[in-house]
Amino acid sequence: VLDIRKLYGAADVFTYDPGFTSTASCESEITFIDGDKGELWYRGYPIEQLAAESHYLEVCYLLLYGELPNADELEKFENLVTRHTMVHEQMNNFFRGFRRDAHPMATMVGVVGAMSAFYHDSTDISDPHQREVAAIRLIAKLPTIAAMAYKYSIGQPFVYPQNDLDYASNFLNMCFSVPAEKYEIKPELSRAMDRIFTLHADHEQNASTSTVRLAGSSGANPFACIAAGIACLWGPAHGGANQAALEMLQEIGSVDQIPEYIKRAKDKDDPFRLMGFGHRVYKNFDPRAKVMKESADEVLDLLGIENNETLKVAKELERIALEDDFFIEKKLYPNVDFYSGIILSAMGFPTAMFTPIFALSRTVGWIAQWKEMIADPQNKIGRPRQLYVGSDKRDYVPVDSR
Ligand code: ACO
Repeated sequence: VLDIRKLYGAADVFTYDPGFTSTASCESEITFIDGDKGELWYRGYPIEQLAAESHYLEVCYLLLYGELPNADELEKFENLVTRHTMVHEQMNNFFRGFRRDAHPMATMVGVVGAMSAFYHDSTDISDPHQREVAAIRLIAKLPTIAAMAYKYSIGQPFVYPQNDLDYASNFLNMCFSVPAEKYEIKPELSRAMDRIFTLHADHEQNASTSTVRLAGSSGANPFACIAAGIACLWGPAHGGANQAALEMLQEIGSVDQIPEYIKRAKDKDDPFRLMGFGHRVYKNFDPRAKVMKESADEVLDLLGIENNETLKVAKELERIALEDDFFIEKKLYPNVDFYSGIILSAMGFPTAMFTPIFALSRTVGWIAQWKEMIADPQNKIGRPRQLYVGSDKRDYVPVDSR
């Protein structure tokens, strides 16, 4: 038996916790999840109330500063964000360096990382004012960057932000309007878009947020940290699941195919998983999925999309899985990604845009967590340990003697 403490020195207690299933990496006042009860609060406010009664920029203020703003504070904050929506004109040229058929997430990782080159006057993390400016710039410009990545990928000209539009309408306009035609923004769709942003705004120490914190713990600038978060979010076990979930529902295609996919998901020898199902923390239900399901019904109704086969498959798949012993035993429920793709697809977004939309929504959570960490006097560089299981010490052998 190894005496870990003798072997590794320093700490009194040394835990081995792959996937950090039971290790807290920080203290935080921002977001609370009760996985057993299926509860999510931002700064104490339940997500259901915020999704129904608040809106994204108010939620951004809440996450960043800890309290809901009064009317004056909200107006100032909205003005500030709105005035920062434009990106540096040279960024247009930067975009043109990417292959036309690049995935918008690939473009976003590069462009957001490059913001530290375009906006280096807000990279000094020791200056609270610069930290504040960086936070506002990120929240304001991410929709512009995501929309530019999309427009570039489909070969259409960039659409500049319009400051008379609210945050969600502005994003829809930048994605869907073309210079030759007037794009009509339906207020109900803006509201649904805004709700998607709100539901994704923060989720405590998930993989991408932990990545942002770890990158930031070395003193890296906020733009580099958020680019690291975007890279982590891209994976199909995390934010990439919304794209994967819709693709899976489309592949299933019709209700009668569901049992076969359920069978595959239960087969230990088949790597297939039900995408949009299961969660590390939620072992009851994901409260965001409930709101998203209602929203999917509303949006499809509004757009006059009747008998949507994908929504039918999703609902039936959920119903069958929730009655199946395998899923009950393993506490697998639909997560936020299960229904979001159906809404985004009905709005006209291709699957490749689903994860960029998640990324722009989560930016406020990442930056709020980053700010909290930088302001914490206890903050020190994150440096996990390991259990070394490699070779014992041995002598080098020259190549001609091997
Ligand atoms: N379909 C079928 N079986 C599953 C699924 C699923 N979606 N999710 C978990 N399981 C099974 C696993 O095979 C495992 O079975 P075992 O105990 O027999 O080995 C058991 O449930 C536990 O799964 P883990 O992977 O150990 O759970 P973990 O907490 O590490 O993973 C995760 C959580 C990554 C979300 C997982 O449920 C999954 O891969 N889901 C599909 C991808 C997805 O929807 N991701 C989005 C997450 S939410 C977000 O990031 C916004």
